[in-house]
Amino acid sequence: MPSLRGRDMISITDFTQEEIEYILDKTDEIRKLSIERSDLLKGKVMAILFFEPSTRTRISFETAMKRLGGETVDMSEPKRASIEKGENLTDTVRVIDNYVDVIVIRHPLEGSARLAAEIAENPVINGGSGAEEHPTQALLDLYTIRREKERINGLTIAFVGDLKYSRTVHSLSVALANYNVKLYFISPPILKMRREILEYVSNKVSVEEVNDLNDVVEEVDVLYVTRIQKERFSDISDYMKVKGSYKITLDHVKKMREDAIIMHPLPRVDEIDYAVDQTPQAKYFKQVYYGLLVRMSLLALILGAVE
Ligand code: NCD
Repeated sequence: MPSLRGRDMISITDFTQEEIEYILDKTDEIRKLSIERSDLLKGKVMAILFFEPSTRTRISFETAMKRLGGETVDMSEPKRASIEKGENLTDTVRVIDNYVDVIVIRHPLEGSARLAAEIAENPVINGGSGAEEHPTQALLDLYTIRREKERINGLTIAFVGDLKYSRTVHSLSVALANYNVKLYFISPPILKMRREILEYVSNKVSVEEVNDLNDVVEEVDVLYVTRIQKERFSDISDYMKVKGSYKITLDHVKKMREDAIIMHPLPRVDEIDYAVDQTPQAKYFKQVYYGLLVRMSLLALILGAVE
């Protein structure tokens, strides 16, 4: 396996399936280091450059770096999230690139992370680029499926919710298209999966767009739920039309296979009833933990501390 040192992660398609599997294998090894602090990344500094709100992704990257002995500088300026001039981003990245060894960026504009990677000499990791992609979330989602289901091939996976604007489902469905899986896309009509992604994945695996979760709930191995991405709607009246239009409840869980799992990238708004949290199928908080491990592994590989 060629070294991943110095690599950017902007799109999930930047990595081959073999490389993705390698990162996940390394995650299993690195799990031991998450218990105690390690000095694998001692002397390395990571910049967090977030132009959009974030709790999980930011803290997860920060903790991953610190648990491996590295340091972080947070250069997020949420108030500047409305700045939509590529020029400003260009200068910021050029400056920060001088201070650190790796940059994690989140920005509301599609193409922003790619632009940052072209400018920076150090590796850039995309922590979410508009509604487009969220590749490290896809990695941790794959890892969660692998850990909880012990395989990815042969599974039936249903995505439920805002498939138009959720960047996590875009990256994950593209990644899953490398496996032998069956995918269901379930959403309100105005929030259907982006056409270009639907086309890409349906050329590789079996995909079906379904109107009602109840039609397939008994069949699925993985139910991946997303929140409606209110902040991405250009017309708030469209949001009002779909607000609260779906919710996973205990009734759904009762119909599910006993060994099925429910995932969600979080934050949850109202799309999964809190009562579901107590069921064995609910894995969304475990998913958060796996995210820490996967980001530790990715940082260690990209920064060349692990080969
Ligand atoms: C997701 C995101 O930011 O795209 N959250 C996350 O990274 N865990 C999902 C979301 O905001 O709904």
